Amino acid sequence: MKTHRIALYPGDGIGVEVTDAAVAALQAVERRAARFHLEFERFDWGMAHYDRHGRVAPDDFLDTLRAFDAIFLGAVGWPARLPDHITLTPLIRLRQAFDLYACVRPARTFPGVPGPLRNTDPIDVVVVRENSEGEYVDNGGVLAAGTPAEIATQTAVHTRRGVERILRFAFDLARTRRRRLAMITKSNAQRYAYVLWDKVLVDLAPAFPDVAVEKLHIDAATLELVRRPQTFDVIVGSNLFGDILSDLTGGITGSLGLNPSANLNPERRFPSLFEPVHGSAPDIAGKGIANPCAAVLSAAMMLDWLAESKAADLLRSAVERALAAGHLTRDVGGTLTTTDMTEAIVDQIG
Ligand code: NAI
Ligand code: MG
Repeated sequence: MKTHRIALYPGDGIGVEVTDAAVAALQAVERRAARFHLEFERFDWGMAHYDRHGRVAPDDFLDTLRAFDAIFLGAVGWPARLPDHITLTPLIRLRQAFDLYACVRPARTFPGVPGPLRNTDPIDVVVVRENSEGEYVDNGGVLAAGTPAEIATQTAVHTRRGVERILRFAFDLARTRRRRLAMITKSNAQRYAYVLWDKVLVDLAPAFPDVAVEKLHIDAATLELVRRPQTFDVIVGSNLFGDILSDLTGGITGSLGLNPSANLNPERRFPSLFEPVHGSAPDIAGKGIANPCAAVLSAAMMLDWLAESKAADLLRSAVERALAAGHLTRDVGGTLTTTDMTEAIVDQIG
């Protein structure tokens, strides 16, 4: 029997609550499928680690994680106690150091879950976010700190190699779906960075004649995703735009509590990272009401990546059936707690 070694990084706030839920669902599917073994090791990094050691993760955390087959993260961040740019540093370092350049964020509507839009036709999109460069590289500085003349610069980095590999990934993904690709930039105003995206798209598109391509600026894309979300299939954008748009696609499909993500190193030179799109939600942390579906669906993406697709399908259909049967947490209009919802999903796994 195959063993998959999984590092758990529950993090902060509801990250811990939904990681527990995902582990329960994974263990249920492991029992049911009886084809593989999941070996978990848990790392209590985040605020808890900071309180004990004065840093959110140990200096050698990347070396520790390198040995695993996959990493599952809950969420990090506790802004009332520590600025986000400190608590989120390990996550951003992980994505860059392990070259997890393809961030895949599916968002779909589920029967039984009300969405906020008047147009209730099903939505099924995937945001592909460039995850290794762009606006999130640590490239800048501060001059005259703390004075009225303070200057902060942060320069985005877009490389032809980086843009090309993420567009190729998105084209390939579109080929497995409805063969539509929307590329989101702001090349009307950002004359160097996003014009490079436009050029690379022109170079690549002929190799994918079966994929219909649409180009939108980020401002238009936010409008069109609300007005005509059903016309979108795969959406590709830079680190910042992908981050923003995947909260929007979560919003229009019902709740961020339903949206999973995978941070992939497609060449498999490093372990890939799976996590819900949502953050640590301090407003509801500790109340036991977080929706665990995003975390469970992220676990399903992890199983797919580990080539356990039958088990992944089982997990996904358990979530679908539980939702369709009216098991809903508060963010989607129900009353269930995290534990109740997790049990409903585990029951469906059988
Ligand atoms: P958030 O995603 O944590 O929460 C946004 C809103 O959605 C809140 O009202 C929250 O209650 C709700 N929500 C999120 N997930 C939910 C779930 N599973 N069930 C029910 N409701 C849910 O974003 P926010 O508030 O902007 O950030 C909170 C912290 O999380 C910050 O420190 C932020 O930097 C961090 N963050 C971390 C991420 C990560 O670890 N990957 C991603 C996004 C934010
Ligand atoms: Mg985000």
